[in-house]
Amino acid sequence: MKVLVVGGGGREHTLVWKINQSPLVDAIYCAPGNGGIARLAECVPIKDDDIGSLVDFAKSEAIGLTVVGPELPLTLGIVDAFHKEGLKIFGPSKEAAQIEGSKVFCKNILFKYGIPTGAAEIFDDRDEAVAYVKGQETPIVVKADGLAAGKGVILADSQEEALAAVDLIMIERAFGDAGERILIEECLTGQEASILALTDGETIVPLVPSQDHKRAYDHDAGPNTGGMGAYAPVPAMNERLLRQIYDDILEPTIMGLAEEDITYRGVLYAGLMLTPEGPKVLEFNCRFGDPETQVVLPLYKGDVVEAMLAVEEGRLGTVGVGTDRGAAVCVVLASGGYPGSYRKGKEIRGLEALDGLDDVVAFHAGTTMSDGKLCTAGGRVLGVTAFANDIQRAIDRVYEAVDIVTFDGMHYRKDIGRRALG
Ligand code: AMP
Ligand code: GLY
Repeated sequence: MKVLVVGGGGREHTLVWKINQSPLVDAIYCAPGNGGIARLAECVPIKDDDIGSLVDFAKSEAIGLTVVGPELPLTLGIVDAFHKEGLKIFGPSKEAAQIEGSKVFCKNILFKYGIPTGAAEIFDDRDEAVAYVKGQETPIVVKADGLAAGKGVILADSQEEALAAVDLIMIERAFGDAGERILIEECLTGQEASILALTDGETIVPLVPSQDHKRAYDHDAGPNTGGMGAYAPVPAMNERLLRQIYDDILEPTIMGLAEEDITYRGVLYAGLMLTPEGPKVLEFNCRFGDPETQVVLPLYKGDVVEAMLAVEEGRLGTVGVGTDRGAAVCVVLASGGYPGSYRKGKEIRGLEALDGLDDVVAFHAGTTMSDGKLCTAGGRVLGVTAFANDIQRAIDRVYEAVDIVTFDGMHYRKDIGRRALG
């Protein structure tokens, strides 16, 4: 079978790497892909949101399964467009993808089906939002309804900050139409963790829990980023807690959507806060996490293509799936200046030395081949990932590997996974 992966970051490199291990697969294409993906897949220069061209490509190449990485094509309806042409694709429909595409839609599902989440009010009028903020305690969280490239959530420590956030989103329209409506939400405290679950709308298979590191610098200091690293499993997520998350969050969400006549198929990403009152939903994403995928998929036991086909065909209950023992840690190597402005085109050295190691993989996020040399092409450049029997050994191993790789201006966090050690 031929498989097409849509996207071109570290998450997609990991998908391609895992898909490449499936005996069901003869050839892999990736649109648009990147410098590392090009070693395992044929990269096709089609943008991830150019749905018409992706459909045409899948038809002309007789692609047997398409796997979508990013949220944008999903919320634009790529799955519906593929299905209309009789093409198989792994991911939720446009309607189901609203679970990520609209925080208001998501919150309404959570409230309606009694799923634990922070208290919140929804506003489409700026003055009403302002009046509400003035009656609330701080800190408080202001969220744009729509997709905002991960920037639409503002944690306000004071009333002034909260009011500024309301205006930034609703008046200045910093995130465009995403700011037509907002949520003003209770600030939750605790440890954050995520669970990715495969589901065909009926059977739900949670993968190993993981935790990413959003701040740029060690000890969770500095600005927010797309993610500076991740580890799995999360020791705080014991059997009892996992059972509770399944019973109180994952199952009622999928069943609630079904009640609304929405069959959710694909991967559901639950971003959770482990509060003193139990796990609560911060957000759902309609796709694999980045960089969580870099640690979750390598620990997935079994043939991911078989599982994805079963999801697509509504028979996930018929395949055996599970998680390998052991742990994985991913450290993101970023360009100097990231998450602010940064230079591209710096030559990357040392990666060949990692090639022969079977407990280390460098997933490429922003790389490109230029004049025969591998160069930086993004803010997050590489996600170096190591696997071992436990987190401590995976941490030691990943930093040994990171020491071998260099490029001009490279920076990374030195404390990825430390939280897991308590
Ligand atoms: P979201 O896109 O909704 O997950 O928000 C992005 C990040 O903002 C989350 O990963 C949390 O770190 C933080 N966040 C979102 N909602 C809340 C909340 N209600 N309380 C505290 N932190 C939050
Ligand atoms: N790592 C967070 C996300 O993928 O949304």
